[in-house]
Amino acid sequence: MIANLILQLASVSTTCQAPSLRAIIPLAFSSRVTRHAGSLWILSTTPSTKLWGGRFSSETKTETQDFTQSVDADSRLVAYDIWGSQAHAIMLARGEIISDEDLRQILIWLRRAEEDYDNRTFVLKPEKEDVHMNVESYLIDGAGIEYGGKLHTARSRNDQVLVDAHLYVREQILGTQIGLSQLCRAFLRIASNHAETVMPGYTHMQHAQPISLGFWATAYVSMLLRDLKRLDSAYVLANMNPLGACAIAGTSFAIDRDLTTKLLGFDTVHEHALDVISSRDFIAETLFCLSLLMTNLSRLGEEIVYWTTHEFGTAVLDDAYSTGSSIMPQKKNPDIAEMVRGRCGRVYGELLDVLTNLKGLPLGYNRDLQEDKPPLWDAFDIVQSCLGILPGLLETTRFNTDRMAELCNANFAAATELANYLVREQGIAFRESHEIVGGIIGDLVKEGATFDDLDKTRTLLQLRSVNLSKSQLQEVLDSNLILRGNLSLGGTSPAEVRRMTSEFDAELRNIDAEILLRQEQIDVSYAQTHQIIEEVIAGKAISEIESPCWA
Ligand code: ARG
Repeated sequence: MIANLILQLASVSTTCQAPSLRAIIPLAFSSRVTRHAGSLWILSTTPSTKLWGGRFSSETKTETQDFTQSVDADSRLVAYDIWGSQAHAIMLARGEIISDEDLRQILIWLRRAEEDYDNRTFVLKPEKEDVHMNVESYLIDGAGIEYGGKLHTARSRNDQVLVDAHLYVREQILGTQIGLSQLCRAFLRIASNHAETVMPGYTHMQHAQPISLGFWATAYVSMLLRDLKRLDSAYVLANMNPLGACAIAGTSFAIDRDLTTKLLGFDTVHEHALDVISSRDFIAETLFCLSLLMTNLSRLGEEIVYWTTHEFGTAVLDDAYSTGSSIMPQKKNPDIAEMVRGRCGRVYGELLDVLTNLKGLPLGYNRDLQEDKPPLWDAFDIVQSCLGILPGLLETTRFNTDRMAELCNANFAAATELANYLVREQGIAFRESHEIVGGIIGDLVKEGATFDDLDKTRTLLQLRSVNLSKSQLQEVLDSNLILRGNLSLGGTSPAEVRRMTSEFDAELRNIDAEILLRQEQIDVSYAQTHQIIEEVIAGKAISEIESPCWA
């Protein structure tokens, strides 16, 4: 089809004098065949609909536009794209790369873009390709190319998209951390009510030793605190400024990357331009943190599913956090716990998606990188949905403490402590006492008895030359006392659980304060940028404006 057009064009070239016509076409316009008038092809000088259309002589196919556009995914980035553009424009004016009036016009129209996006009169158009082109087109349409056309000086979409992604990721990390901290608090509340509530601890899903419900709950806090810390280090890498890397090589304009760093509330500049443009490891790392967090939430989901079975019967979910069956009237299902478990795989998938995308890419920008956003969005959405619902579910769950105690005595969970007692009180080597207690249990099992049958247990001990009074034996096998005795650092004793609860609480307070500080840093830089914007729009020259950002 294109070859056809060229042939027809060649046959009329003397009539329409394309070369001389081409010479007077401004750069932002391109000549193209637009209609067929009788036997004559007419070359028109209609503006290109693309901001990059200068070198193209025909319109992009609709299929190409549809295939390459990213406006759906980009809709989350509009506010960040505008803030990034505002910071960039202020920096350009401050460095006298654009004039005060250029800046004023740009800022007026960027602000309008934001308002119109919010009130839905500015919608992202797929034919404009992405958020960057949509915002810039809005600006150019409003302010005119003589002003709006200057915004993209010393900038590329390659660093622009990274600015948007970094701004988005850092905020989402903070949001995730807040949700995670609330989940930890829900566990800490369980811990403070149940430091003495015995339950069986499991290995191989077999009864192992008595632990407390509070010990179980603090285990999740201990684990989730690491997720918080991992997200913290992901935040540090996300909070670096990519702006100014431009396409891949920096720029010959005298830009001030420290200034945009301050205006956007980043901690530091990510310097090396080629590395900046090539890097998406901050996204992969964030996805890894989210994946591991989901692993932990999924394990919790698994435990909730077990505990709420009739067989376990150690927990009952509140009706508000359960679902029923369309056919079986008796059902009360732990769907939330199952879906947390089920959504975990999706987040792993998002991580693998991005890692696989990155592994074959040469340095520089490659359009494959546009594919990094949907998985990231999806992963944050999933994690935040889980973190949103789990604290309420936990806080309303009724733990069946009688059933826990019953299970604790049902299947020799006290065996290790009995062996320890023999070592401590009778001077028997641990391997021997292990053998003795194992032998007694073997005999009890053959007779269908448990440690509950104290007389039988005593007799079996006597047969192995171990003499214990009934009350001594009762004490040794008492789960509550066993719990109390495990005073080793990090053990299940109520004393340790209380100590860890208060230390975790203090750690969480520090983390909460750090999250707040970071949020404030973002808010302050946003407010400072907007203070400058107000003054510029009110007509002040950039050199007359005072701002902490200049320092
Ligand atoms: N939409 C693109 C992305 O998400 C923005 C960068 C486009 N750059 C380019 N040279 N085509 O990655």
